[in-house]
Amino acid sequence: MSHIQFRDLSVSYRRPKSDERFLAIDRISLDIERGSFVAVVGSSGCGKSTLLLAAAGLVSLASGRVVIDAAPVTGPGGHAAMVFQDASLLPWRSVLGNVRFGLEMRRWKRDDLTERALRHIRMVGLGDFADYHPHQLSGGMRQRVNIARALAVDPEVLLMDEPFGALDAQTREVMGNELLRIWERDRKTALFVTHDIEEAVFLADKVVVMGRDPGRIKDVVQVDLPRPRSPDMLDSETFVTIRRRLRESLAEDMASLRLVTEGV
Ligand SMILES: Nc1ncnc2c1ncn2[C@@H]1O[C@H](COP(=O)(O)OP(=O)(O)O)[C@@H](O)[C@H]1O
Ligand SMILES: [Mg+2]
Repeated sequence: MSHIQFRDLSVSYRRPKSDERFLAIDRISLDIERGSFVAVVGSSGCGKSTLLLAAAGLVSLASGRVVIDAAPVTGPGGHAAMVFQDASLLPWRSVLGNVRFGLEMRRWKRDDLTERALRHIRMVGLGDFADYHPHQLSGGMRQRVNIARALAVDPEVLLMDEPFGALDAQTREVMGNELLRIWERDRKTALFVTHDIEEAVFLADKVVVMGRDPGRIKDVVQVDLPRPRSPDMLDSETFVTIRRRLRESLAEDMASLRLVTEGV
């Protein structure tokens, strides 16, 4: 568990085929409390992935800093585990081999590897599939393997970039529930990007709305729903109120995008 602080963080990229740089995120300050689950929403291109990459130490910063548990992030290290939208599994390795791979990379002691990997495979409900290969699994199952691989290395923070983005609505809902069940057990500090407002509210303690051009924080909404969360909360007044506020925040962004396109 860990406390993440983003302080005046800016990240710039080079424009394609040009020396010119532009700000992908502009002076973002944000606190992710220890053991909390924070969701990030915002239209495409507003810098959500960049924010996660900065937390993982995978981009260089134009200014500002990222601090995890009082230590500045200076590069990729063992502190964070990432889960991406495309289950980035090794096709030639079994489910067990893939989850073991994460541990091998982090130099876990050999004797414990298989046992530890299997424990996490069972935790995501794939106990009977340890010997299967990725192509023999559904999209949802592959994403479970990805989550097991991330959690098995016992990272301080868990960074998830639209992990359920490629799944159908129903599988998505099941996976959201599963993720919460797992997360509620050891409460790793989690930063979760999604384009689904309901998913964000259902999962998170706090939802951050980002806006674009340049990428920045537009709104931060506290989600005061009790835990464990359950699907019946989707109809509660608190849920509906928060969802409306988030929709409105996001709609402003969409409106300005529309003006841009109409001007073309
Ligand atoms: N490696 C890169 N090089 C140049 N531009 C990039 C790179 N990665 C992202 N961008 C640009 O930075 C902006 C923010 O991207 P990103 O963080 O991926 O946004 P999001 O995840 O919210 O869609 C976008 O305009 C995107 O095109
Ligand atoms: Mg992204």
